[in-house]
Amino acid sequence: MLSIHRLSLVTFALLTAAGIARADSQPLPASQPDSSTAQARAQAAMSEFGTRLRAVLQEQLQAQGPLPAIDVCHVQAPQIAAEVMQTHGVRLGRTSERVRNLANAPTEWQTQLLTEFAAKVAGGEAPEAQLAKQHDNLPDGVALRVMRGIPVEAPCTVCHGTTIAPEVAASLLTYYPEDAATGYSVGELRGAIWVEVLQQVTP
Ligand code: HEC
Repeated sequence: MLSIHRLSLVTFALLTAAGIARADSQPLPASQPDSSTAQARAQAAMSEFGTRLRAVLQEQLQAQGPLPAIDVCHVQAPQIAAEVMQTHGVRLGRTSERVRNLANAPTEWQTQLLTEFAAKVAGGEAPEAQLAKQHDNLPDGVALRVMRGIPVEAPCTVCHGTTIAPEVAASLLTYYPEDAATGYSVGELRGAIWVEVLQQVTP
């Protein structure tokens, strides 16, 4: 049963790759396969990064509390990002209007989208509903840019909230003397995850 299932998946993948399994027989506009592939890569990269980071953070918080978890964020967030970038052929990261790590400071296009997201959230929309895609006027080598809003959830307030335990605050200060990422409440927009999908090099 399993092997039949697997076989049919492989067959489907091959057919799809060859362009045979398309439901409609109408030819798609030339740009569409590329842009849908780029979107799939962006989506896959964002969800892998989000899932992995959340898992290590949650595990550390539960097992050892916030202090070692700060270390996880400091060391592992950039490490996981690097691995995801390599796997999916993208650039990716987290940013915010108020950053903890200056290395996460938004670039110009990110600032513009963060401002738009913040305005919509101020107007009553959910932070996680914020999604923007840019296809045009991108730098050389970039096929697509995507950005999605990140909400503040209850566990986040341990390190980003309005009341932070003194030992947590002290530890944050040693890593990030210019930390601006505190004072958040649950349901606010904490920032965004961004992806730049790089054009695939065809051999
Ligand atoms: C244990 C403490 C801790 C918890 C809990 C925590 N963070 Fe952070 N957060 C950090 C640290 C440390 C950094 C800086 C990471 C780095 O150096 O790149 C950071 C950075 C970020 C950034 C990148 C932008 C910036 O400010 O540098 C975002 C976005 C973010 N956190 C969102 C969240 C969200 C959402 C949650 C809850 C799901 C959360 N964090 C929970 C410690 C924490």
